[in-house]
Amino acid sequence: MIDILISENISGAFVDALSTRFQVSRQPKLWEDQAALLKAVETARVLLVRNNTQVTSEVLRAGKNLIAVGRAGVGLDNIDMESASELGIVVTFTPDQNSISAAELTMGLMLALTRGIPRATADTSAGGWNRQQFVGTELYGKTLGIIGAGKIGFLVGARARAFGMNILAYDPFVSADNVMLTELRAELVELDDLLSRSDVVSCHVPGSPKTDGLINRERLSKMKPTAYFVNTARGQVVVEEDLIDALKAGKIAGAALDVRAPEPPKDSPLNRMPNVILTPHIAAFTKEAQNRVTRAVCGDIARLLDGKPATNAATRFRAPRNRA
Ligand code: MLT
Repeated sequence: MIDILISENISGAFVDALSTRFQVSRQPKLWEDQAALLKAVETARVLLVRNNTQVTSEVLRAGKNLIAVGRAGVGLDNIDMESASELGIVVTFTPDQNSISAAELTMGLMLALTRGIPRATADTSAGGWNRQQFVGTELYGKTLGIIGAGKIGFLVGARARAFGMNILAYDPFVSADNVMLTELRAELVELDDLLSRSDVVSCHVPGSPKTDGLINRERLSKMKPTAYFVNTARGQVVVEEDLIDALKAGKIAGAALDVRAPEPPKDSPLNRMPNVILTPHIAAFTKEAQNRVTRAVCGDIARLLDGKPATNAATRFRAPRNRA
């Protein structure tokens, strides 16, 4: 029996500290092999993952000794939450710990897009000094459309406000008197309205069947030809072929994608588009965020293995049910 099975690249001082008290099996590539995962999980009490491991109902059922799944991150789209609840397995996650880093990367991508920073860097590093080629646009006075007015959306909005942007927000689960929207002086609008009025559109919705393909051909066609699209949420929110077509046809000015479907992505025309910025799902990858994330999730795992309730449970229950 092992106490903690780690099926992705999760390391650092807090994981090392767990190893001094519990039996930990570190298998950073296990997520790539579902059959091996199914076998390895049989003897584990806790499974610790990021977003790559597909914690399906089959995996949870194969984990006959599982009391918990630790998710080092906020998105739960790779975990079958219904099965976890049914089986009494606690899912502990990190609801806030990487939000600031995600918001900061989003701002970085917005600036990189509107000022052509990656292209200017490549050109200058190759010996060029072509100032006229890199005339950008200001964020000041422009409109940012935030799709998904949760924590990260709010943090992005607050930073964009400091840049002098106007904020539009779309979120079917939020009402116009929402305190965060009031704070941002944001206008809550319908999605089509947001798309047609924004100079930058930024996605901050969770991955779920309801948000899959939310940004498609029809929605992209509502955007201004001068507008930029930024996605640091989940790749499947955007229909990638539709985005490629919109970029090729000049229906939008550019895009920055930190997330893709699948990850890692296959070769794509996006790789060769000058007005596209691609990063490898690094929104949460700062020293500070990873420190907070691993501290929180490892702390909860230790609590659960010690028979105490989790602090950050994503399941309705904070202690395992029906399991020893
Ligand atoms: C998250 O869901 O927390 C982020 O996408 C980062 C991650 O999954 O590692």
